[in-house]
Amino acid sequence: MHTDRNALFENLWQDYKAVTPSAAHIHRILGAEEGQAIINDHIALRTFNLQPVGLEALAEHFLALGYQEGGEYHFKAKKLYARHYEHPDPEAPKVFISELLTEQCSPELQAVVHKLVEQVTQEQVTADNFLYSGRHWDLDSQTYQQLLEESEYAAWLAAWGYRANHFTVSINHLNNFETVTDINQLLKDMGFTVNASGGEVKGSPKELLEQSSTMADRVPVQFSDREMTIPSCFYEFALRYPKPDGNLYTGFVAASADKIFESTNAGM
Ligand code: NI
Repeated sequence: MHTDRNALFENLWQDYKAVTPSAAHIHRILGAEEGQAIINDHIALRTFNLQPVGLEALAEHFLALGYQEGGEYHFKAKKLYARHYEHPDPEAPKVFISELLTEQCSPELQAVVHKLVEQVTQEQVTADNFLYSGRHWDLDSQTYQQLLEESEYAAWLAAWGYRANHFTVSINHLNNFETVTDINQLLKDMGFTVNASGGEVKGSPKELLEQSSTMADRVPVQFSDREMTIPSCFYEFALRYPKPDGNLYTGFVAASADKIFESTNAGM
């Protein structure tokens, strides 16, 4: 596991950027407009709730860096459970980790997912690079399609493996943009599609968190039998509001996160 937080996040960013050209583009434009570094509010990771790759195993990489457990979140319809982690250093990105509750899925999906996870070793999971190591299993395009019919989340994870599902720009740290609507306008002016599921702005000042995101890029991925162009990762934007004690809210809003998950929907 990494002992240097910046090294971990830099590796995650490079890996994510390689399959998310729109994020690289937006990051460059925003950085130029701001004339300063863009602060990352949080990243999100996905996994299956099976040994040795369950949520806890991913979280170990962050606990080792001084992160602490935050809130937990339930997504009943999508059969997901999630937790967030935060660091005493407020500049450290928060981390949102979700896992698919496989036992709630069909016997067919369970059989496929068990076969994938069986190919991952404990050593791989604790290695420095695990969180940006991609796919650890063989996968053919037909199995991907089969998963997609039941769970978009399972299909995405099977195809992409371990990597940041999204990075998130902290709007609080931007000088030239004050609202999520401002950012959404910039994205649309640049020709990007904003995730409109549940509205383009998710959350509210009352919930202390407002968010939006692009729809995931579509990039080619190599399966064991052929190459297919499928949704990869997306870029998110977050604006946090102060709690009664004056400190910014650090949690997440389940109803908003539920819609953000849909940013990787295949759509067509
Ligand atoms: Ni997020």
